[in-house]
Amino acid sequence: MTEAAQFALSGKELEYPVLSGSVGPDVVDIRKLYAQTGAFTYDPGFTSTASCQSKLTYIDGDEGVLLHRGYPIGELAEQSTFMEVCYLLLNGELPDQGELDHFSHTITRHTMVHEQLAQFFRGFRRDAHPMAIMCGVVGALSAFYHDSTDIHDPQQRMIASHRLIAKMPTIAAMAYKYSVGQPFLYPDNSLSYTGNFLRMTFGVPAEPYEVNPAVERAMDRIFILHADHEQNASTSTVRLAGSSGANPFACIAAGIACLWGPAHGGANEAALNMLHEIGTPERIPEFIARAKDKNDPFRLMGFGHRVYKNYDPRATVMQKTVREVFEALNVQDPLFETALRLEELALNDDYFVEKKLFPNVDFYSGVILSAIGFPTSMFTVLFALARTVGWVAQWNEMITDPDQKIGRPRQLYTGPTQRSYVPLTQR
Ligand code: SDX
Repeated sequence: MTEAAQFALSGKELEYPVLSGSVGPDVVDIRKLYAQTGAFTYDPGFTSTASCQSKLTYIDGDEGVLLHRGYPIGELAEQSTFMEVCYLLLNGELPDQGELDHFSHTITRHTMVHEQLAQFFRGFRRDAHPMAIMCGVVGALSAFYHDSTDIHDPQQRMIASHRLIAKMPTIAAMAYKYSVGQPFLYPDNSLSYTGNFLRMTFGVPAEPYEVNPAVERAMDRIFILHADHEQNASTSTVRLAGSSGANPFACIAAGIACLWGPAHGGANEAALNMLHEIGTPERIPEFIARAKDKNDPFRLMGFGHRVYKNYDPRATVMQKTVREVFEALNVQDPLFETALRLEELALNDDYFVEKKLFPNVDFYSGVILSAIGFPTSMFTVLFALARTVGWVAQWNEMITDPDQKIGRPRQLYTGPTQRSYVPLTQR
């Protein structure tokens, strides 16, 4: 703890402890504020509020730094695999070869879903948004695993964590297959986590499916880039749901629902739709003007961030990966040129410079995913697939944190003060 924070209210002089982390802003511990002053703090959107302590991920928004258990995202994306990053987030250290093999084997052995789960898809229309299907089917998992719902048993928490990480690719692939009217494929345990997902998504029973190593590597890197991100909206949703002791599968379904919003994970779908709407670079100035127009709700999707006030380091890796995938698949996409030009014009426009609006993780991801063959409606599903390890790691950390209790924010009440009921005949 460093110096205390002085606070004066209604003639009272109070001091609150200032706590320091290993890096990043200090926090003022105001847990006793209401008891001592009768006042709440007021922070809509939690722009100045730390909801918890965490050892998982650190972001320096001004420097454009993202660390997972201390390791920079650029190094993890270039040198590790998604399975390694999953192990790192869950256990705190990078695995040795034996630990990684055991972890990958464990995850692989949980990739199948209960055969009854396939029935849940049949109730959806074929044109249902895949994120709607993910909310429903992942929530339904909470009805299937009564052997691992004692969240205070570390073993049961780990089994539920492994099941969620393992089954999300299977369910995501099933959501895609259902939308295109093709049969579900079972997992193939001889493939990597990411190769297995690509085969379940793009393979058909009628012929063998060859995993393209360049696509597998790019997809695995995209999963790494989306794995975790401090206390973002969907992670905070999972933590709040989990703080009541709710079923872990239901908590992840709540996170999926929150991620779907276009201001959050839904931005990758919205960003590609925006690039399609812009079409050619000649129309970019018109859209930049709309984004700057206070009377126009339009925003440049894939731009801006609550924390990053510099370049999102994930966008840097994502842009590089676009070039690699295009080269590997020998494809060109004029939308990529439009995206590059849009970034260049926006980053030289005073409005975006002053408001520190840079491309975020969602700006380029759609261009790659589209080149690989995913429909736009699947983009946020892929984000949810990758973020599941972050949600699960944060959920485990929340449950084992002695400071944690059920989340219950207060409010500034501005409604009517007490008044008496007026009988209907007198109104
Ligand atoms: C993700 O939190 C996370 O970590 C999220 C995420 C993760 O990994 O979990 O990183 C994933 O959600 C990335 C963000 C994806 N969303 C988008 O790309 C949607 C477009 N971006 C915006 O909606 C916005 O930038 C947010 C929601 C991302 C951040 O909003 P804030 O921090 O609440 O900031 P704000 O909305 O108050 O904006 C500040 C100013 C405003 O202008 P003023 O009212 O001050 O005049 O910047 C403007 C905004 O109008 N602004 C934009 C803009 N983003 C913000 N103007 C035009 N285009 C934009 N994209």
